[in-house]
Amino acid sequence: MSGRAARVYRGTPRNLSLLAERLRAGELVAIPTETVYGLAADAFNARACRKIFTVKGRPASDPLIIHLASASELGRVARPNAAALRLAKKFWPGPLTLVLPKLAAVPGVVSAGRPSVAVRVPAHPLFRRLLRLTGTPLAAPSANPFGYVSPTTAEHVRQSLGKKIGHILDGGPARVGLESTIVDLRNPLRPRWLRPGGISRKDLELALGRALIVPRSRIKPGAAQIAPGQLARHYSPHTPVTLHPRLTAKMAAAGRKDEAWLFLQPPQARSGRNIFSLDPHGDLRGAARRLFSVLRQIDEVGFRRIHASLVPGTGLADAINDRLRRAAAR
Ligand code: TXA
Ligand code: MG
Repeated sequence: MSGRAARVYRGTPRNLSLLAERLRAGELVAIPTETVYGLAADAFNARACRKIFTVKGRPASDPLIIHLASASELGRVARPNAAALRLAKKFWPGPLTLVLPKLAAVPGVVSAGRPSVAVRVPAHPLFRRLLRLTGTPLAAPSANPFGYVSPTTAEHVRQSLGKKIGHILDGGPARVGLESTIVDLRNPLRPRWLRPGGISRKDLELALGRALIVPRSRIKPGAAQIAPGQLARHYSPHTPVTLHPRLTAKMAAAGRKDEAWLFLQPPQARSGRNIFSLDPHGDLRGAARRLFSVLRQIDEVGFRRIHASLVPGTGLADAINDRLRRAAAR
């Protein structure tokens, strides 16, 4: 851990080789991905991976995701099956994480002692170049203090972890803006949908040729937890959140001025410093991309409460509503 402030690097060839060198030496580097920024360490170096938990204040029971330069490296960390290879071929590089049986080469700290490991091939060009230069799989959770909303810009990382880490690679704002979809494929006949994200349930079911099982803890927050990322309360802003099936401009107009109102699309005939929206046209891709930065922005201003509207639809809407529900869970 560095006592000095983090340095933010642009993705020049020289900086990338320097950062690859740091990673090989067992240091942490915050990296851009297409979903959110991650905090990376050499996945085969247990000591380096332990630093991730310290820096994030993350319980040792919450496993990390391993990132690979390409699907051909899957056999270095996990035991794939035919269903995994099919999804990998269709969706990698991209926002899909697969849970598979772990190989012994992966230290227990990465998988929080489990016999399974979560793996994905990210799509961000700078991160992929860095993975290739480093030559080793990189374990990385989101680069935020445990429980807080994930960072979607290098500046978000600097603001919350800048005093605890030495290196941040700036790859611009994250294109997807929400964490990857997680599918448990340990048993390919019973694929389980652990977290909604950038790849939709429908597309996964089409590719697998079977329905995804939705674990009970996803349906009923508070039920026994099966995967740590499924903690009901997670991805939470500091400001308490109240969810509404639908928000109207009237509700906001009648509401308190010290409470924030978060719409999918800007409400007609209503603006003000306590009115926020996710996308000018109500586009779900734009909304997913902005959700976490808008929540941070509302935290910065400092309101008593956030009233947020669930968004209609499936696909990305599932992922946005999942994050809103977790933000609102007490
Ligand atoms: O898009 C993403 O997934 C981002 C970027 C950086 O890749 N990563 C991310 O990691 O969001 P994060 O903070 O969600 O942490 C990894 C999560 C854990 O909380 C857990 O839910 C899941 O991955 N996970 C890891 N290993 C697992 C395992 N063996 N079984 C079930 N879930 C696992
Ligand atoms: Mg996280």
